[in-house]
Amino acid sequence: MPTRILSIFGTRPEAIKMAPLVKRLEADANIESVVCVTGQHQSMLNQVLDLFSIVPHYDLKLMTGNQTLNGLASRLLASLDDVLAAAQPDRVLVHGDTTTASAAALAAFHRRIPIGHVEAGLRTGNLMQPWPEEMNRRVVDVMSDLMFAPTASSKANLARESLHGRVIVTGNTVIDALNLTVARIDGDAALRAELDTRFEFLNNTLPVLLVTGHRRESFGDGFANICAALGELASTNAVQIVYPVHLNPNVRGPVQEALGAARNVHLIEPLDYLGFVRLMQRASIILTDSGGVQEEAPALGKPVLVMRDVTERPEAVSAGTVRLVGTQREVIVRSVMDLLEDARERDDFARRINPYGDGHASERIVAALAGRPFDEFGSTAALQARRVAQTASVL
Ligand code: UD1
Ligand code: UDP
Repeated sequence: MPTRILSIFGTRPEAIKMAPLVKRLEADANIESVVCVTGQHQSMLNQVLDLFSIVPHYDLKLMTGNQTLNGLASRLLASLDDVLAAAQPDRVLVHGDTTTASAAALAAFHRRIPIGHVEAGLRTGNLMQPWPEEMNRRVVDVMSDLMFAPTASSKANLARESLHGRVIVTGNTVIDALNLTVARIDGDAALRAELDTRFEFLNNTLPVLLVTGHRRESFGDGFANICAALGELASTNAVQIVYPVHLNPNVRGPVQEALGAARNVHLIEPLDYLGFVRLMQRASIILTDSGGVQEEAPALGKPVLVMRDVTERPEAVSAGTVRLVGTQREVIVRSVMDLLEDARERDDFARRINPYGDGHASERIVAALAGRPFDEFGSTAALQARRVAQTASVL
C-alpha cells in the first residue's frame, strides 16, 4: 500500500516551494500524493498552480479581502478538519511559517496525524520579526515528527530546542523550483522574448532596481520610509525602479499613493513566477523584504539588499550574498547608491556561493518519506556528487 501524503499550502511562496516536491511525490510509486490548497492567497496562488500544472484535490478558497490573522486561522481550522476526515492521510506536509502552515499542523496534530515540516528551523530569535511568522514556524516545529531543515544552521537551531522530531538537512526546495524555471527560460528563446514583451516599458540605458515588499511588521512607518527612499532614488535618474506590488491593501494603498506618479518608478501587478524570475535576471540590484527572494536572487548572482532589521536567513548574510539595510530611508538610499556606483562590489556578490541548496531538496525529502537512502544536503557525499556534476557540465 502506498503511503498517502497530504500536502497543505495556501500562499504564493508556499506554492512555489512545494511545487517541485508535489511533482516528485506524484511521480513516486511508493506514495499517493494528495494536495489541499487553502486559498489563503487567491490569484497569487493560482498563478503558481497554473505554472506548475498542479491540480489540487481540495481547494478551500478561504481568502477574504484584508483578512485578519484570527479570522483566517479559525476558517482554516474548521475547513481543514473536514479535509483531514475525508482524505485520511498517513502524513501531512506543511511548509514554512504562514497561518496556513500553523493551522494545518494544529488540525493534523488534533487528529494525531504525523506532520512533516518543510523548511523547518529558521529563526530570528525575535517573536515580533517576522511577525507573526517566527511564532508560526516555531509551533509547527514543536508538532512535527519530521523536520526538513534547509541548512545545517537551521538544523542547529532545532537541536538547541530539544524537539521530539527527526531533523534532516535537505537544502531549500526554492532552489529546485528556481532551477526548473531558469532552465525553462534559458532553453527557450521564444519564451524569453514573450516574457520580455512584458517589460517593454524598461529604459535599456538605466540599471534596474527590482523591489518587493510586503511584511506586516513594516506596515505604517516602515512602508512610508521605504516609499520615501524609493522616491528619492528614482529622482536621481541613476536608476529605474520596478516594483510588482503585493495585493495586500495595506501595501498597495501607501505604495500607490506615494509612488503612483513618480518618474522612473514602474508599479506593476504581481508577476507569475516565470515573469518574476525573468525580471530578477534583468535586474542590477534587488531590494526586498521577501524570504524567498533572499534565497533565490543570489543563485542568479544578483546583489540583494534586505529591508529588515533581522533575518531568519543568516547564512546568506554570512556568505555575503545579501546585506541587511533595515527600513530607514537614508540607509536604504545610501546602500543602493553605493552599490550602483561600485561595479566591483556588485560582481563580488555575483561570485559568492549561495548557501541554500543544490536543486535536489525535493528528491531528498521524497527519499526520506519513502524510506530510501539519501545523502543530506551539505554532507561530504552530496558535495562530492555536486562537484562531479559540475565537472560534467563544464566538460
Ligand atoms: C502571507 C504570509 C507571509 C508570506 C506572505 C507571502 C502569514 C501570517 N503571512 O502574508 O508569511 O510572506 O503571505 O506573500 O501567513 N491578497 C489578495 N490576493 C492574493 C493574495 C493576497 O487580494 O492573491 C490580499 C487579500 O486582501 C488578503 C491580503 O492580501 O486578505 C493579505 O493576505 P495574507 O495571506 O493574510 O497575508 P500576507 O501579508 O500576504
Ligand atoms: N514572486 C513572484 N512574483 C512576484 C513577486 C515574487 O512569483 O511578483 C516570487 C518570488 O520569486 C519568491 C516568492 O514569490 O519565490 C516570494 O513571495 P513573497 O515575497 O510574497 O513571500 P515570502 O518569500 O516573503 O514569504
